[in-house]
Amino acid sequence: MRHLMNPLDFSVDELDRLFDLANDIEANPDQYKNACHGKKLATCFYEPSTRTRLSFEAAMLNLGGSVIGFSDAASSSAAKGESVSDTIRVISCFADICAMRHPKEGAPMVAAGKSSIPVINAGDGGHQHPTQTLTDLLTIRSLKGRLNNFTIGLCGDLKFGRTAHSLINALARYEGVKFIFISPRELMVPDYVTEMLNDRNIPYEEVIRLEAIMPKLDLLYMTRVQKERFFNEEDYVRLKDFYILDKAKMELAGPDMLVLHPLPRVNEISVEIDDDPRAAYFKQVQYGVYVRMALILTLLGIHV
Ligand code: NCD
Repeated sequence: MRHLMNPLDFSVDELDRLFDLANDIEANPDQYKNACHGKKLATCFYEPSTRTRLSFEAAMLNLGGSVIGFSDAASSSAAKGESVSDTIRVISCFADICAMRHPKEGAPMVAAGKSSIPVINAGDGGHQHPTQTLTDLLTIRSLKGRLNNFTIGLCGDLKFGRTAHSLINALARYEGVKFIFISPRELMVPDYVTEMLNDRNIPYEEVIRLEAIMPKLDLLYMTRVQKERFFNEEDYVRLKDFYILDKAKMELAGPDMLVLHPLPRVNEISVEIDDDPRAAYFKQVQYGVYVRMALILTLLGIHV
């Protein structure tokens, strides 16, 4: 039995097969509509989410399966003091596969250790968010046709943003990827990330201003300042509108530069660029459903 805790749990070849499957699902959705008939997905969400939880649920429903779960720790037995280890043993009796989001780093891994069904980490604190990374990689592969030889800018809260940490980890395995980290000093990528890049001789730059580097980018990954992980309101208020991607900044970028964002956005992308053909963040949401469908099939060992 396999779980997904970290994007690196799959080899590059396995990811290619997963993305091929996701593209096939996109092209032939009818062929997959009963693939999970009789199977249940449990979504155990101890932290707020709209997209990730509904994306998992839509994925399972598109495969003809059903869903159970909770979307708020307060409405689960966690409020009575139940451990995630006990919760997953119980859920294992009800469902065939579980997607878990938790504010504590490592909680889904603890659950996986006690689970008799596959567990998917749907985001653990500021740590990892592997299914967002699969979504990001599938979006890049589908829209750019490759996962190597490009310069990607990651902009915003690179300290607390788990989507950025997960994506950097995953992209570091591909040839010719150069990173440009754009953040205020207070929200720079953690040292363990830059140490990993240094150890592997992967090129990166750290800058504060977005404008100057726009022309160099093939991809721009915008992120939200992670309010819920700040220790004080004052710092959040000071940093929250540090970057706002607008029409003027988009004019500095090349004609093929794609803008990605895991969403939800707050102010960091102006709505005035939503109709720009380079804005790919809503397409990304659609790819998220296809890749979660492919992941559910793969972890359940179902072949269509
Ligand atoms: C992200 C998350 O939860 O980390 N959202 C998502 O799952 N699409 C990004 C965020 O909340 O900023």
